[in-house]
Amino acid sequence: EAPRDLEIGTAVWGQRDLLDYDRKNPTEFQRILAAEFSSITPENDMKWAEIHPEPDVYDFSGADAVVAFAKANNMEVRGHTLLWHSQNPEWVTQAAATWTCDEARAVLEDHIRTVVGRYAGEIYEWDVANEIFQDDWDAGGVRLRTEANPFLAACADDPVALIGDAFRWAHEADPQAVLFLNDYNAEGINTKTNAYYALAQELLADGVPLGGMGSQGHLSLQYGFDDTIQENFERFAALGLKVAVTEADVRMPLGEDGEPTAEQIALQAERYDAMLEACLNVAACTSFTVWGFDDERSWVPFVFPEGYATIMTGDFEKKPAYDALLETL
Ligand code: XIL
Repeated sequence: EAPRDLEIGTAVWGQRDLLDYDRKNPTEFQRILAAEFSSITPENDMKWAEIHPEPDVYDFSGADAVVAFAKANNMEVRGHTLLWHSQNPEWVTQAAATWTCDEARAVLEDHIRTVVGRYAGEIYEWDVANEIFQDDWDAGGVRLRTEANPFLAACADDPVALIGDAFRWAHEADPQAVLFLNDYNAEGINTKTNAYYALAQELLADGVPLGGMGSQGHLSLQYGFDDTIQENFERFAALGLKVAVTEADVRMPLGEDGEPTAEQIALQAERYDAMLEACLNVAACTSFTVWGFDDERSWVPFVFPEGYATIMTGDFEKKPAYDALLETL
């Protein structure tokens, strides 16, 4: 279902979920995917390590599978991602140790033109730059990741120039795609979104084709909830940008039986719904994407000591969170 022009999306790992069928119920998975969603974000397939594993080798198999599935089922694709500190191939990490800024720029430009160019016209939004700010509890506080991100590190003298050019290269390769910044802990008004707000103003003043600010929406019931999401979306919209919820999930610590409590289940539904409401209330919000829709395929248990993060169980049983979202739509 898509009210106004809002896309309702999910992440799908093309290589695992569409090609290798590496999880249970692949057929039912694909049926639900096509029936319930209007947009797909490739969960890993367009990341550097997957799509550009060696300097002269691109592997488009997973990404192609996602784009083909979307096309066959009348769905849109959100591209993800071109400039990030994580999931870079070994060769990038190694070469980066000796890169000059010019060398880093050449590698990034070639990659962006190749990947964005291949899917030109088939992708409505691209997460060009992902997680480029640190958290305020990281050493040095909220600032651009000029250490962890190999490209920003090589161009640490003027990282904003590199970020701006990444958007310019992507725009030249696909003028139709709306180009996003994207990050976690970037839902409400906080030190990180303040930094993004300042960066967005700077990029726009430089004429950079920045089109949107993505809030990932990876929430945990362990932490407090910031109810300034709509306000935050509104201030980016006032700059003329689109906004989007790009990777929503709501994880939680589970008891010894591995099950959530009734209270947690209800609270999860509230948090999902709050993110969707904020998006629906701001006309500039283009898409609401969940980061996987079933617990069987969720990334959460692999990374956090938490679970039950998606809107359906591993057997595709709909949770109250699913019902809450549907009700709001
Ligand atoms: C995650 C994927 O879901 C996992 O399969 C992978 O092992 C690690 O990355 N923020 C992002 C996403 O922007 O790309 C991440 O996806 C989750 C956090």
